[in-house]
Amino acid sequence: MKPFDVYPLFDIEPVKAIGSRILDNEGNQYLDFYGGHAVISIGHSHPKYVKAITDQLNKIAFYSNSVIISLQQEVAEKLGRLSGYPEYNLFLCNSGAEANENALKLASFTNQRSKVIAFKEAFHGRTSGAVACTDNPSIIAPFNANHQVEFIDRFDLNAAKASIEKGDVTAVIIEGIQGVGGIYVPEPGFLEELHAICKQHGTFLILDEIQSGYGRSGKFFAHQYSSVRPDIITVAKGMGSGFPIGGVLISPVFEAKFGMLGTTFGGNHLACAAAKAVLDVIEDENLVNNAAAVGEYLIERSKNLKGLKETRGIGLMVGLEFDFDITQLRKDLLFKHKIFTGYSGKKTLRLLPPLSINKNDVDTLINALEEILSIQ
Ligand SMILES: Cc1ncc(COP(=O)(O)O)c(C=O)c1O
Repeated sequence: MKPFDVYPLFDIEPVKAIGSRILDNEGNQYLDFYGGHAVISIGHSHPKYVKAITDQLNKIAFYSNSVIISLQQEVAEKLGRLSGYPEYNLFLCNSGAEANENALKLASFTNQRSKVIAFKEAFHGRTSGAVACTDNPSIIAPFNANHQVEFIDRFDLNAAKASIEKGDVTAVIIEGIQGVGGIYVPEPGFLEELHAICKQHGTFLILDEIQSGYGRSGKFFAHQYSSVRPDIITVAKGMGSGFPIGGVLISPVFEAKFGMLGTTFGGNHLACAAAKAVLDVIEDENLVNNAAAVGEYLIERSKNLKGLKETRGIGLMVGLEFDFDITQLRKDLLFKHKIFTGYSGKKTLRLLPPLSINKNDVDTLINALEEILSIQ
C-alpha cells in the first residue's frame, strides 16, 4: 500500500523543528512563515508542550467520553478566560471541519431549520456540511451538494438581509478573516449589522475562527476587532499547535441534550494536555500581543516591495497581493532562501507564521523578497 495521492508535494522532508525553524533530512534549515497552514501557534516543539504531552502519555493517553476527564474542564476554563468567553460552553472534537460540522448541526437542531448562508470564496473544511459551505465546486462531490447553502458576495449586507428575512436560515457561517480566499478582513461594522439581522430572524451567527483565531490576528479572535459576540465560534489549527484538536464555543442560549453531539476521540487526554500547554504558553509568552506587534512590523516593512498591489490582513495573518503570478517567487523563497510561505490564488502570498516569530525573522523574509524582486 502507499498513500492516496491527493497532494502535490515539495521535494523536502522535514525531520525536526524548533520554534520558527524547520530542519530537513539533508541538514537544511528553513524559516517557517506558513506554520503548516496556520497550525503552529506557539512555535514548533515548544519544550513546555513537549513535556506536557510526554508526561500525559506516561499517565493515560485516552479513554472515551464516558468518564470524567478533568483536563477538558481545565482547557475549557482557560480558553474561556483567555478568549473572553468564560460563560460559553465547549464541545471538543478533532479538526476544523468537524468543529464546523458540529456548529451547523447545533444551530439546526436548535432552530429546526436547514438552510445556511455562507460567503463567496469561503473555506470551511471538507466534510459533508462544511464542504457544502465552501465556495469551491471542485472539492464538492455530488453526495455533498444536496445541502441548502446560499453563497453571498463577501460583506454584502443587503443580500444577506434579503435572504435571512425569509425566515428559513438556520445559520450564517463566516470566517473571522477569510483565509484561503485571500486574507480579507470584514469591513468595520459588518459583523455587528449581520448579527443584528440574524438575531431579528432567529438565525445563528457562526464565526469560523479556525484559521484566524487563537491569537493569530493580534486579538484572541479576529472578530474581537468588532463588538459581536457570536452564537457559536469554531476553533482548531492553532488550538493544538500540531496536535489534532478542534472545538466549538457555544453561547449559553444553547441547551445541551445527551447524544446531541458526540465523538470517540474528541477531548481525549493527550489532546487536552496539548491544548492546555498551548494556552499556557500563549499566556506566559504574551503571544497574542507579539502577533499584533510583529504583524504590524511585517505589514509596514512589506509596503515598498516591488510589484506589491495590496497588503491585506492583521496580526500574523497577512496576504501580500502582487501584480504578477507568484509561483516562481514562492519557489525562490523556498529553495533559494529556505523560507516556507503559502499562497492564495495565483498572485497572493499568504503568511501565517508561528505567533512566536520575531522582527529579525520578518527582516529575513523581507530581505529575501527584496533580493528576488530586484532581479525579476
Ligand atoms: C477557515 C477554515 N475553516 C475550516 C478549515 C478546516 O479545518 P481542517 O482542515 O482542520 O478540517 C480550515 C482549514 O484550512 C480553515 O482555514
